Amino acid sequence: MSRLMGKILVVDDDPAICVVISEALKRQGHVVRTAGSIAERQAALAAFKPDLLVTDVMLPDGDGLDDVGELIEADPNLKVIILSAQNTLNTAVRATGQGAFEYLPKPFDLNELTRAVAEALSIRASGSGAETDSGTVGEDMPLHGRSLPMQEVYRTIARVVGNDLNILVLGESGTGKELVAEAIHNLGPRRNHPFIAINMAAIPRELIEAELFGYEKGAFTGALARSAGKFEQAEGGTLFLDEIGDMPMEAQTRLLRVLQSGEVTTVGGTRPVRVNVRIIAATNKDLPALIAEGRFREDLFYRLNVVPIRLPALRERTGDVPLLARYFLDLAARHGLPRKSLSDQAAALLELHDWPGNVRELQNLMQRLTVLTRDKEINVEHIGEVLAISGASAASVRLAGANDVREAVGRWARDLLAVGRSDVLADGLHEQLLGVVEPVLLGETLAALDGNQIRAAATLGMNRNTLRKKLTHYDIDPAAPLRRQ
Ligand SMILES: Nc1ncnc2c1ncn2[C@@H]1O[C@H](COP(=O)(O)OP(=O)(O)OP(=O)(O)O)[C@@H](O)[C@H]1O
Ligand SMILES: [Mg+2]
Repeated sequence: MSRLMGKILVVDDDPAICVVISEALKRQGHVVRTAGSIAERQAALAAFKPDLLVTDVMLPDGDGLDDVGELIEADPNLKVIILSAQNTLNTAVRATGQGAFEYLPKPFDLNELTRAVAEALSIRASGSGAETDSGTVGEDMPLHGRSLPMQEVYRTIARVVGNDLNILVLGESGTGKELVAEAIHNLGPRRNHPFIAINMAAIPRELIEAELFGYEKGAFTGALARSAGKFEQAEGGTLFLDEIGDMPMEAQTRLLRVLQSGEVTTVGGTRPVRVNVRIIAATNKDLPALIAEGRFREDLFYRLNVVPIRLPALRERTGDVPLLARYFLDLAARHGLPRKSLSDQAAALLELHDWPGNVRELQNLMQRLTVLTRDKEINVEHIGEVLAISGASAASVRLAGANDVREAVGRWARDLLAVGRSDVLADGLHEQLLGVVEPVLLGETLAALDGNQIRAAATLGMNRNTLRKKLTHYDIDPAAPLRRQ
């Protein structure tokens, strides 16, 4: 396949970045110029007339994203790739809103950049221009976090705000699924219409259809007057179908029909009514598994899953924990609670937690700490007081699942020492870890020796009486010791 060559202007105030990018692009046969400021960029655009502009956002003489919309308006053939270290939802949405072809967060991957360049040039050659909607975007974005998986989420959000594609938001409880749905609504052209949420798990099964599609007077016992359904309430806006995995099969069938026809018939009604609603669904369930069990319609899944957005669990992006923790302290202060800061060591300790409740758990914890802590700064001791138990149990969970117990204990102990938590090790943790490891060790040894306690005691290097006491303590039956399945 022959590659399209182009004239490319690379703009970054860091000369090293300019060199790296221009060398890579030149090697592929492109003609490249570089610039280090907005002023130089203006001059080069006029003189060099590039096909493609690759530009940084923070430049010494201003914001490199502000006038991208105008540049594209002046030359609708110009393709623009934005590079930025800001890495927020705001940058992603602004870049897309200004009509940029692609937004690449820094540090960027050179392969990804050259792929984006090739794609931009080929689209330019085929002459299809992107629609732009430069809606106003506030600085105060709801979603926080700059980790790579979140940047991927931001880029997807930025790509879908301007259209009506069905979205399926996936992720564990508390990862921000509803927040993402709201962000898509609030950033898009439907923002002045309602955002209506309905939680399938929170409504009695037999009422779901009436709630969604509305009902006529007398449609069922207790239907004393006509009632508008969520579809009708969301007209012109967005309907958020939360916990879609909990939707009963009959309601799924009816929902599918509505999505196919674009028309809703109320329960007990006869006349279908056209609806104009964007659908965003969410679930923490494994829908393909539900499909396999016959509990979710496959055709409905494909309808809803046009663009999937998978939210990472917080433990998959622990680098975001300090930033989120401080954001929640700030949020609490803005809601009238005392303003608290977080020490760096405390932030590092928070990163060690497993966060089974994800961002919601972190938010609740920071609120609790705001109220409970008397000092202005939240430090390691304060975190220890509220997280000690869950920290130790998280360790047990990790240990139970770890193949190499030694390695897991070692890593955890090193982590704790690194953040100055030798006290956790001293304070009963040793006992707890032992309580996890020892019964497994005893059980396995006995199993291997067919329950022979004399040999097991000798093998383990302990007195027979000690072994017997431990077996009683851990409630292990030596005749039927633990066996691996
Ligand atoms: N990236 C984020 N930045 C800031 N706040 C967040 C972020 N993600 C989640 N939150 C906050 O965490 C809480 C939980 O988020 P949300 O209700 O959207 O989660 P969810 O995935 O819908 O959870 P569930 O499955 O339990 O309904 C909310 O208070 C939300 O504001
Ligand atoms: Mg939710």
